[in-house]
Amino acid sequence: MFNFSTLPPLSLYIHFPWCVRKCPYCDFNSHAVKGDIPETDYINALITDLEQELPLIWGRPINSIFLGGGTPSLFTPEVLDRLFSALRARLAFAPDIEITLEANPGAIERERFSEYRAVGINRLSIGVQSFNNDQLQALGRIHNRRDAYNAAEAAHAAGIDNFNLDLMFALPRQTLPQALSDLDEAMALEPAHLSWYQLTIEPNTLFHQQPPTLPDDEHSWEMQQQGRAKLATAGYTQYEVSAYARGAQCLHNLNYWRFGDYLGIGAGAHGKISQANTQTICRRWKIKQPTAYLSQAGSEERLGGTQVLSENDAALEFMMNALRLQQGFPTELFMQHTGLSLDLIEEPLIAAEDRGWILRRKDQIMPTEDGQRFLNNLLGLFLPD
Ligand SMILES: C[S@@+](CC[C@H](N)C(=O)[O-])C[C@H]1O[C@@H](n2cnc3c(N)ncnc32)[C@H](O)[C@@H]1O
Ligand code: SF4
Repeated sequence: MFNFSTLPPLSLYIHFPWCVRKCPYCDFNSHAVKGDIPETDYINALITDLEQELPLIWGRPINSIFLGGGTPSLFTPEVLDRLFSALRARLAFAPDIEITLEANPGAIERERFSEYRAVGINRLSIGVQSFNNDQLQALGRIHNRRDAYNAAEAAHAAGIDNFNLDLMFALPRQTLPQALSDLDEAMALEPAHLSWYQLTIEPNTLFHQQPPTLPDDEHSWEMQQQGRAKLATAGYTQYEVSAYARGAQCLHNLNYWRFGDYLGIGAGAHGKISQANTQTICRRWKIKQPTAYLSQAGSEERLGGTQVLSENDAALEFMMNALRLQQGFPTELFMQHTGLSLDLIEEPLIAAEDRGWILRRKDQIMPTEDGQRFLNNLLGLFLPD
C-alpha cells in the first residue's frame, strides 16, 4: 500500500525538440529543423499543455525548471520571456528556484546569455562534448573548439557562473591523453559543474548503423579512472555516475535521482507525479513528433501515454535512480518519495550487502565502489522474480 503523508519535491521539465542538425550518436527526441522553427505556436502549445497538467499539482511549489532538448538555445529570449510570464502566472516558483537552459555552442550568440538571464535563467548546460576539432567533426557537431570557449566565456560575462559543460569520452579513435586533455581544457573554463559521459552507441542512431571504431573496454575504463582522479584533484567531486561538481550540484537532476516528482511539458516530455488523494504514482508522457504535438495542443491526444506504477515498479525505479548517487540515500527518503515501507526491499538489500555492493549505515544506504562498477548487476537484485 502506498502511504504518502507528504509529497516529494516537484520540478518542471520543458522539452524543445529541434536542432540545427541531428548528431549521429543521439537518440534524444530531437529533429533537424527544416525552415523556421514555429516558435510562437510551440510556446502557445507549451502553455496549453501546462494548463492541462495544473490540476495534478495544485498548490505545490516548483523547485527547479530544466529547458532541455534538442536545442532550446535556438529559441529567442523574447519568446522564452513570454513563456516564463505564463509559467509565473500559473505556478509557485520556490524562492531559490534553479532554472537551467541547455545551450549548444554552435547555436548561441554572445549577447544572448545576458538576455536569457534577464528572463530568469540562472544556470546553463553547454554541450561541448570535446575540445578536439577532429573529434567534434567525427561526432557531427555544428561547432568547433573556439565556439565552446566563446560560449563558456559568454556565460561568465553574463554573470551565469553556475554552468555545466557536457563532455563525452571513449570517442571514436580517442586516445587516453586526448580524453584527459578535454578535461583539462574544460576545467580551465571554470564551470561549476561537469557532466562527463562515456559515449554509448544507441539503437536508432546513425552510429548504430555505421559503427565507428571506439576504444576497447580496458582503455575506456582507464580513461574513466584517470579522468576521475584528475577531476577530484581539481576539486570536482563526483556525486553521480557522470556528474561532477565544484560546490554546485544540479538540483534538477538530483530531484530525478532522488525519485522526486516532475511535470513534463513539450513534445515527448515525460512526467512523474505522486498524488496524496489517490495514493498513486503516475507516469505520463506526451506525443513525440513535434508536428503531431503542435496539432494536438489542447486535446487529450497530446498524451502519448500514462502508467500507474505498481509498488514493485516504484521500489525498483527508486533504486535505479538513487543508487546512481555516490552517497546513496537516507533510508527515510525511500519512504518519503515512494510512499512505501523499506521492508518491501529488505531481501534484495540483504543480497546486495552480502555481495559487497552496498553499505548500510544506521540511516543511509550507499553503493560501494564495486556496486557502482557493477550497477546493472546490483539493480538486477531489485527486479521482481
Ligand atoms: C540531452 S543531450 C542534449 C544537449 C545539447 N542538445 C547538445 O548536444 O549540445 C545532453 C547530453 O547528453 C550527452 N549524450 C547524448 N547522447 C549521448 C550518447 N549516445 N552517449 C553518451 N552521452 C550522450 C551529451 O553530452 C549531451 O550534451
Ligand atoms: S545537438 Fe544535442 S539533442 Fe541535438 S542532435 Fe545533437 S546531441 Fe542530440
